[in-house]
Amino acid sequence: DFDQVISAIEGAETLEALEALRIQYLGKAGEITGLMKRLGGMSPEERREMGPLFNGYQRDANAAITARKDTLETAALDARLAAETIDLSLPAPATPRGAVHPVSQVMDELAEVFADLGFAVATGPEIEDDWHNFTALNMPESHPARAMHDTFYFPDRNDDGREMLLRTHTSPVQIRSMIQQGAPIRIIAPGRVYRSDSDATHTPMFHQIEGLVIDKGIHLGHLKWTLEAFLKAFFERDDIVLRLRPSYFPFTEPSIEVDVGYSSQGGRRVVGGSGDAPGHAWMEVLGSGMVNRRVIAAGGIDPDEWQGFAFGIGVDRLAMLKYGMDDLRAFFDGDVRWLSHYGFSA
Ligand code: PHE
Repeated sequence: DFDQVISAIEGAETLEALEALRIQYLGKAGEITGLMKRLGGMSPEERREMGPLFNGYQRDANAAITARKDTLETAALDARLAAETIDLSLPAPATPRGAVHPVSQVMDELAEVFADLGFAVATGPEIEDDWHNFTALNMPESHPARAMHDTFYFPDRNDDGREMLLRTHTSPVQIRSMIQQGAPIRIIAPGRVYRSDSDATHTPMFHQIEGLVIDKGIHLGHLKWTLEAFLKAFFERDDIVLRLRPSYFPFTEPSIEVDVGYSSQGGRRVVGGSGDAPGHAWMEVLGSGMVNRRVIAAGGIDPDEWQGFAFGIGVDRLAMLKYGMDDLRAFFDGDVRWLSHYGFSA
């Protein structure tokens, strides 16, 4: 009887079960729909009696289904909200995090140390022309020092006839700064440089930081003080000992190569102390010198009025020394295990 229909609807456990009941009673071939169809074949008396009754079934069944549907939907939503609650007290899953590469780290540290000494940062192009990279730096075309640079040349000349190359050092930025800003100058120029060379201590691309000071009355004492101050600040040690060796660069006169003393402790190089002390050795970290007057003139500055010093630091070498790394090539392999071994990633 009809009471059972209503209790079946009210007892439906799921929306699917409820829909099945709707089809069973009220669908096109449903039982209540069937009763309604039968009205058409009845006599007027029968119809007057049964019509309101069947209409009542249809209306009440519909109302019961709508009410039950509402209840089931609300329950489903509540269940979903409960299931999707985020527990903020749970520990987050560990996600690997990136870190600054040791070379970038050292570049930043160097720039910071030199900023404290009053140096501004200058830049120049990595694709450089022969004039800025060599000629203006007192290396005319036939100069033997050019051969020592293992230069990557571009096969074709530029549209304006310039011979192009990948800069072999950051020294061309000296020339660009002199031409651009004139004297006085106090800049560093960090960047990539390229030479056709590769072994445990050489990679075809590496990093330098150039330094240039042009002012009046500048002498070797200024250079020595600056390098000492910077190396002590960079390595955060007061016992840094420098060895200044006479050397040769076409663009400086006199030219000086600078070594720092270090010792090996447990297979790790530790900077500090004289390289001549027992258990110690010297490591070359930079080239420098008083800027050759011909270079000052090539930069459009009067060398009788202005003097200066310049230096070029091997950044990758300094990074190896500071962080106790021994193979330069590993710097550019991008191996996260190697980086994290030295504490450079999470
Ligand atoms: N440009 C030199 C090199 O790459 C380094 C240097 C820079 C030397 C400035 C003296 C002065 O080896």
